[in-house]
Amino acid sequence: MKPRVYITRTIPQETLTRIKEVCDVKIWDEEDVPVPYEVLEKEITEVEGLYSLLTDKIDQALLEKAKNLKVISNMAVGFNNIDLAAASQKGMMVTNTPGVLTETTADFTFALLLATARRMIEAANFLRQGKWKTWSPMLLTGQDIYEATLGIIGMGRIGEGVVKRAKGFDMRVLYYNRTRKPEAEEKFGAEYVAMDTLLRESDFVCVMTPYTPETTNLIGARELSLMKKTAILINTARGGIVNEEALYHALKQGELWAAGLDVFENEPVALDHPLLTLPNVVALPHIGSASEKTRTTMANLAAENLLTALAGKTPPNLVNR
Ligand code: DGY
Repeated sequence: MKPRVYITRTIPQETLTRIKEVCDVKIWDEEDVPVPYEVLEKEITEVEGLYSLLTDKIDQALLEKAKNLKVISNMAVGFNNIDLAAASQKGMMVTNTPGVLTETTADFTFALLLATARRMIEAANFLRQGKWKTWSPMLLTGQDIYEATLGIIGMGRIGEGVVKRAKGFDMRVLYYNRTRKPEAEEKFGAEYVAMDTLLRESDFVCVMTPYTPETTNLIGARELSLMKKTAILINTARGGIVNEEALYHALKQGELWAAGLDVFENEPVALDHPLLTLPNVVALPHIGSASEKTRTTMANLAAENLLTALAGKTPPNLVNR
């Protein structure tokens, strides 16, 4: 009998075909609507495999319903949507898709940094709204990137990718991480510093840590108050790492110059969210890894993890070893 698999969203056809060759597949195929929790609760009861996305909340109560589940394959590098302890306790494998999105997300993070510093979105809107009357000396002036100081909070693969790009802009690089990364120091001359030093000295702070109980609200009012008034905060990791209320107040009161945000505590962010009222916020809909090639590769890697686990072998990206 073929293993049964539930897929929580439409995935690329080639990936789906590959899974269907060896599995009985059911799929939630509403393009832009996450599978409702109550639906997932029913669908998860019998299946051996779950192919999930970061929008699916897979908590202990849900896992209690799963009688046969062997593997949860998350099509993302982050897996904060899954109760890992509960899955491990039930002997379920959890997998993610690291590595394949590193360069694309680093490209994007740097692009967001550039766009925020040079006010590109605001300026493009200014032009389209017919506000461009003439060239003026101080019109839409931003912050320089070249030779500025970049602070990386969380020097993982993507953090290193951002640093690699920053070196082309002659930036000084500071980093804070749970553990020291001698490779990053040797390769890029990155300086390991305490988080408060990083916040005080950086012109750009990039949040790049995984989202865990320890990193929830890692950047709050106190941390923001340490930053330069001309500094820019970039978050392409997870919304809950930065306290949004504190960020709003810091930006509003001019304690911080601008923020580039691809992620929010609740996604999609509500249109009446205070942060969206600020012209110095560049807000994007969690598209850090969204290139065609990378998303296809992520989808295929998630399939490989799923199928390997269902074949009784250790999948390449097992999170709960
Ligand atoms: C991930 O993979 O965790 C990203 O947030 C989605 O690109």
